Parts: sequence; structure tokens; C-alpha cells
Amino acid sequence: MPVTIKTHEDLEHMRTVGRLAAEVLEMIGPHVVPGISTGELDRICHDYIVNVQHAIPAPLNYNGFPKSICTSVNHVICHGIPSDSKILQEGDIVNIDVTVLKNGYHGDTSKMFGIGNVPAHADKLMRVTQECLYKALALVGPGTFLGDIGQVIQQHAEGQNYSVVREYCGHGIGRIFHEDPQVLHYGQKGTGMQLREGMTITIEPMINAGTRYTKLSTSDGWTVTTRDRRLSAQWEHTIAVTAHGCEVLTRRQEERF
Ligand code: MF3
Ligand code: CO
Ligand code: CO
Repeated sequence: MPVTIKTHEDLEHMRTVGRLAAEVLEMIGPHVVPGISTGELDRICHDYIVNVQHAIPAPLNYNGFPKSICTSVNHVICHGIPSDSKILQEGDIVNIDVTVLKNGYHGDTSKMFGIGNVPAHADKLMRVTQECLYKALALVGPGTFLGDIGQVIQQHAEGQNYSVVREYCGHGIGRIFHEDPQVLHYGQKGTGMQLREGMTITIEPMINAGTRYTKLSTSDGWTVTTRDRRLSAQWEHTIAVTAHGCEVLTRRQEERF
């Protein structure tokens, strides 16, 4: 499928839904504490999206996904299924990934939360992964190669002896949840497609503390874990390519750019 270029009208809708997705992460923050289940976090987000935002949680029933958000704890890389039996414990790290659908447009964003006091090594993994995302955002503009984005993420992660997950990537986004192009989080400068004003994409690096290798659960068909069972972290934004850089459509208030 071709890469879509959004009109000003499309972009207005993308701004609206991007803000809603960011607001879900802002809303859920105070609930992400020791003793809560990921199933409860899912219900709170679902009810907020449906009843307050009058929008749709895009993951629900997407290719059969059974819940409204993804909650990926510790060695879970992505697509963790919320469950009432998964209780967050002091020292855990969790990625909450929210995709809101409103007026036919998608906004997709995720962030890491530490549960109470987390070990320094886990804190560092979360911070370096966020830096990977921010370094990529700083490069984005018309003419940027997708390979430039992959290279800066890979260099920053591997510079800390972390590894980059290859099997899952960022994506174009708009009326379609996952559209072209694929946005790899590894690669080489000056390679791949060049970005153009009006494209909307996600960047969502998944960085492992150990090796890059992944394993897909055979029991639920969704949960992706590290093969070596070491920690993994992820942060995601939806962005629009502008004339001179990018607009972060899912920016939270805690983010100053
Ligand atoms: N939000 C994920 C992404 O960043 C996709 C989740 S699909 C689901 O692309 F079905 F697992 F919810
Ligand atoms: Co995404
Ligand atoms: Co997402």
C-alpha cells in the first residue's frame, strides 16, 4: 500500500486523537502503583476512552486482541494482554500502550512506568530507551531517511550494550492503524524512504537489556517476550512531518518540547 500524505483536515483530526491518546497516559499515571492489576488498568483506560473521550480503544478486537490497551511488564517486550491475575509489584517496569480511534483517525502512544522503587539498571534501561525515541524525533523532517532514524536509535542503544528488537517496528498511521511505511528502529544513514511533509508515522523503539531475540507466546498468540527473559523497554509517539521538523501529536504535558 502507498504511503499517505495527510491534508490539513486530516492533520486536524490527527491532532485531536493524538491529544486524546496522550491524555489517557496522563490519566492512568496515578493508578500505576504496587498492588493494582493490569486488568484493572485496562478497565480504567477503556471506560475513560469510551465514556469520557467518546472514542474507541483501537486494540479491542483488532486482529482478535482481547483488551483495550497493551500492558507489557518486565521481560514482556510488547502486546502484553491485561489480566486481573497480573498484579504489579514494587520494582516492576511496565509499558502501557494506548491507541485511540476517533472520527476515523488513530493516535498511538506508549510510555514506561516504574512501580515504586525500581532497580537502577531498570531505571537506566527505561531512560536510555526514551532517549532513543527523542534522538529520533530530533532528526525528523522532510528529506530525513528512514535509515537515519533506525541508525540513531541503534547507535544509542548498542552504545549502552543494549539491543534493538527487529521483529516489530513503527508504522504509518492515520485512518488505518498500521499503514506504510514500516519504521525500523535499526539501520543505516541515508538508506530507505525519505520522509515528506504531511506524513504521519509512529516511532516506538523496543530496547532489550540483553540479546535482541524475541519469543511469541504460543498460548495466547500475542505476548512477545525476550528470549533471555531479561528486561525490555519501549516508548512510542505519533508524529506528523512538518515543513521544518515534526509535530509530536501525542506529546504529554510532562514533555517540554
Ligand atoms: N499499539 C501497538 C503499536 O504500537 C499495536 C497494538 S496491536 C494490539 O503498534 F492488537 F496488540 F493491540
Ligand atoms: Co504503534
Ligand atoms: Co502503540
